[in-house]
Amino acid sequence: MDKILILDFGSQVAQLIARRVREAHVYCELHPFDMSLADIQAFGPKAIILSGGPNSVYESDYQADAGLFELGVPVLGICYGMQFMAQSLGGKVEAGAKREFGYAEIRARGHSQLFNGLQDRSSAEGHGLLDVWMSHGDKVTAMPAGFSVIAETPSCPIAAMADETRKFYAVQFHPEVTHTKRGTDILHRFVLGIAGAQPSWTMPNYIEEAVQKIREQVGDEEVILGLSGGVDSSVAAALIHRAIGDKLTCVFVDHGLLRLNEGDMVMDMFARGLGVKVIRVDAREQFMGHLAGVTDPEQKRKIIGREFVEVFQAEAKKLPAAKWLAQGTIYPDVIESAGAKTKKAHAIKSHHNVGGLPETLNLKLLEPLRDLFKDEVRELGVALGLAHEMVYRHPFPGPGLGVRILGEVKAEYAELLQRADAIFIEELRNTVDEHSGKTWYELTSQAFAVFLPVKSVGVMGDGRTYEWVVALRAVVTSDFMTAHWAELPYSLLGRVSNRIINEVRGLNRVVYDVSGKPPATIEWE
Ligand code: XMP
Repeated sequence: MDKILILDFGSQVAQLIARRVREAHVYCELHPFDMSLADIQAFGPKAIILSGGPNSVYESDYQADAGLFELGVPVLGICYGMQFMAQSLGGKVEAGAKREFGYAEIRARGHSQLFNGLQDRSSAEGHGLLDVWMSHGDKVTAMPAGFSVIAETPSCPIAAMADETRKFYAVQFHPEVTHTKRGTDILHRFVLGIAGAQPSWTMPNYIEEAVQKIREQVGDEEVILGLSGGVDSSVAAALIHRAIGDKLTCVFVDHGLLRLNEGDMVMDMFARGLGVKVIRVDAREQFMGHLAGVTDPEQKRKIIGREFVEVFQAEAKKLPAAKWLAQGTIYPDVIESAGAKTKKAHAIKSHHNVGGLPETLNLKLLEPLRDLFKDEVRELGVALGLAHEMVYRHPFPGPGLGVRILGEVKAEYAELLQRADAIFIEELRNTVDEHSGKTWYELTSQAFAVFLPVKSVGVMGDGRTYEWVVALRAVVTSDFMTAHWAELPYSLLGRVSNRIINEVRGLNRVVYDVSGKPPATIEWE
């Protein structure tokens, strides 16, 4: 199988490059810029892509091994990657007079293979013009020998360059972001056209390979998996079940902080629907007991994480035949933890479901989704027969309603919140936006209700009420790193509010959260 190697120089959007390449059905991996030449050779890339990065190439230690230019494989440099290519091969990079950030119109020149036939429009003289996204301070001011300009803008005369004999291409703009309209085409042109990679990375091929790999890995041994109801652990369970059937046992811990009826739904789908062995553990009292009196969000996360491990461990002890612990780790988790190791990324909130379990359990780790991006995990889930509705569900945090009940968590609050949340989600699923023809559930990336431990006065019938408040939160985002609050129709918000106040006794006020991330986060805690 042809593979593309992407070297990450610390770009915020390096993962997008990988996703665009995978969308061309070509397998690729993202590795830190300082991957050794020997490792690069062992990886055997069909082509290499150098990502952007926040540094200046002439004064930073973010330098890849320039030996990669001697391997005889095509290379595409993006932004910092272009500057690194220029500097490594004898060109010059200098600070620009000012930073260039935002849309730019580039003019393609010289009919390069990279841009040939790709344009958003053409100039009066017949040159192809492309709308691209720029974000750079430095720029290439002198090209290395053998290179020529393949695109220019008035403020950036070397907006792209190439040495077509060696198949070295470089662009100052960012083809991986959607603002660059033909960006995906440009990346696909490089990967499929210039590098000639075969588009053989497809779901049916992947399932076959993955099933085979799981069977080889675990042999006759048994596997346990913590099923959370989320997409990743569900797809992992379905895949492993496909590979080893009854030798997989799933443990589903009900901590009382799940969405309404979630436990029953999980049992329906897995135990009854797919015939997977699932042990359901009712640990509601244990969790609530340990959370009593605790108000600090990080403290709550820690307790929920710790109790989860405890309950899971107790169940695992009852299954001595299990030698493997399966986890729904996906590729972005893997990349993030690599980043964390080199201190190039830092956690803003501790996510309890990453790490922690294997060491204490003394089990071998099985992570069949670790090569996949989220959209690929979903595609895989559907291909394995999981319900579309389940696979395309909004994400749900590991600590569940524990971080959506502000302050102290109580069973009584959880129950009110579950019901309000279910009404909100039901209305989002049932309301179609007439412009797009999509439901508001599909148009939002994550939506939920938050319980505020605040009482306010209301009137109902002839009486005065003094009850709790819930906030509705709905966001639109592509990566959950930044997010906009969703512009839900007033009529929809009004209907949700009426229903919650009428149907959930104990709540008399509903508010809508209109904060973006940043500065707010998506969750309230
Ligand atoms: P924030 O609130 O940080 O959320 O903007 C970004 C995304 O992460 C989810 N999230 C969590 N997921 N454990 C999880 O598994 C957690 O502790 C946690 N905190 C936030 C959040 O739901 C959103 O999708």
